[in-house]
Amino acid sequence: MDRDEQEPVGVIAEPDLYIQGGQPLRGEVRIEASKNAVLPILAATLLTADTVRLPGVPWLHDVDTLCRVQRALGTDVVREGRDLMVQAIDIDPFAAPEHLVRRMRASFLIAGPLLARFGAARVPLPGGCAIGSRPIDLHLKGLVALGADVQAGSGYIEFRAPRLRGATIYLDFPSVGATENLLMAAAMADGWTTIENAAQEPEVVDLANFLCSMGGEVRGAGTAELRIHGVRRLHGADYQVISDRIEAGTYLVATAATGGDVTVGPVLPEHLKPLLAKLREAGSVIDVAGDTVRMRQKGRLKPIDVKTMPHPGFPTDLQAPLMAALSIAAGTSVITETVFENRFMHVSELRRMGADIKIEGRTAMVTGVSYLTGANLHASDLRAAAALVIAALAAEGKSTVADAYHLDRGYAGLEEKFAALGADIERRASCSEVV
Ligand code: EPZ
Repeated sequence: MDRDEQEPVGVIAEPDLYIQGGQPLRGEVRIEASKNAVLPILAATLLTADTVRLPGVPWLHDVDTLCRVQRALGTDVVREGRDLMVQAIDIDPFAAPEHLVRRMRASFLIAGPLLARFGAARVPLPGGCAIGSRPIDLHLKGLVALGADVQAGSGYIEFRAPRLRGATIYLDFPSVGATENLLMAAAMADGWTTIENAAQEPEVVDLANFLCSMGGEVRGAGTAELRIHGVRRLHGADYQVISDRIEAGTYLVATAATGGDVTVGPVLPEHLKPLLAKLREAGSVIDVAGDTVRMRQKGRLKPIDVKTMPHPGFPTDLQAPLMAALSIAAGTSVITETVFENRFMHVSELRRMGADIKIEGRTAMVTGVSYLTGANLHASDLRAAAALVIAALAAEGKSTVADAYHLDRGYAGLEEKFAALGADIERRASCSEVV
C-alpha cells in the first residue's frame, strides 16, 4: 500500500515509537534547513540547465520524494553527504510519476517551472490528505492568467504555453503553494507579473531569494504584493536554505510541555515571532541571542487563545504541537484553526491520554488537566504526530505511537534529538514494516 497521506480507515498499525514520559527536556538542539523552503527551491532547479548546489539539506522523506520525482523527469540529483547537487538538462516534462505526486502534495510545485522553461507539462493531481481537501484551483487560475492552456486528464493536468506572458493575479487566499508555483512560472514569463494577496511566509521569501540568486528579478517578497520581471534564462546557484522555523518551534513547544530548558539553533528569530509571543504570553521565559533561542519553563503554562493565520500570523503547522502543550495548562485555552478545514485529527488521540478538549467547528476549547496519562496512540499526519510525541513526553507513564513514519516526512533524527535532551524515546521496527 502506498504510504500516502491518507490515513488507512479502520486500520491501526503496530506501534513503532515507544516513549516513557515525565522527563524535563534539557540541552541544545541543532535545527535543520527548512523542509518547506527546500521543496519549492528543489522544484525551482527545473528552471535552469546549470548545476545548483544546495548545502545542508536534511534527510527527510518529503525531500526524498521530490528528488525521486525530479529523477523521473530526467534531472540529475546527487547527494554528497548533506549537500544536494541538482542539474536539470534532459527533461521530459510529461514524466512525473503519479504515485509520487499523490504521495506528496508539494510535488505539484513542478508545474510552474516546467511550464516556464519547456512550455508544457503533465502533472498528476496531488492527493488530498488528512488535514483537508487542499485543492489547486488558485494554482490553475494563476497559470491560466499567465497564458497557460490547462486540460484536465484522468488523474492529471496537462499544461501548454508556448510562451508565458506577465499578468496581474489576485489570490483569493494567500496560498503558499500557489504563490510559489506562480512565482516560478512568472520568473521566465514575458514582462512583469504582479501577484496580489500573495503568501508572505519565510519559505516564500527564501524561494524568491533563490530565484534572484539564479538571475531572476523578484520584488516585494515577504509582502502581500509580489512583482516579478520575467527573464529569458536563469543560471545555476549555490544556495543555503533558511532554517526550519517549524522544526525549531516543535522543540520549543516540547520544552514548554515538559517544563525544561532548551536552546535551539541556528534559527532566524524573526521567523519565530508569532510562536515566541504566544509562549511568552503562556509564561515561558524566552531569550533570543543571535541565531539561537533559549526556552525555559517553570511550572504549568498559563492558558492562552491562539488563532492560526497565514504569515505573519500564528503558523498552522504549530497548532497541533501547541495544543498538546496547552492540554496541561492551568486553565482553558481557545484554539482556532482558520487555514485548514480538518486539522484537529490529533484531538481524539490527545483525549485518549485524558486531555479535555471540546471542538466546535474550527475552534477547540482546551481545558488544561493536571497531567496526561500515557496511551497507545496513532499518528494521522506529520504535525499531529509531533503533537502526540510532545504529549507523550509530558505524560505520566508509557506511550506508544503507531505510524510514526509520518514524523520522518518533516523531522530529521527526531528520536535522537529528543533522546539527547534527556527524553526516554525509542523507535522499534513494527512487524508491519517487516512485511
Ligand atoms: C504549505 O502547504 C505547507 N507545505 C504546509 O505545511 C502549510 O501548512 C501550509 O503551506 C500553510 O502554511 C509546504 O510548504 C510544502 P496552502 P500548501 O496552499 O501550499 C487552500 C507541513 O506540515 N487552497 O497555503 O498546500 C487550502 O485548501 C505542511 O509542513 C485553496 O483553496 O498550503 C488550504 O485550506 C502541511 N486553493 C489553504 O488554502 C488552492 O489552490 C492553505 O493552503 C491552494 C490552497
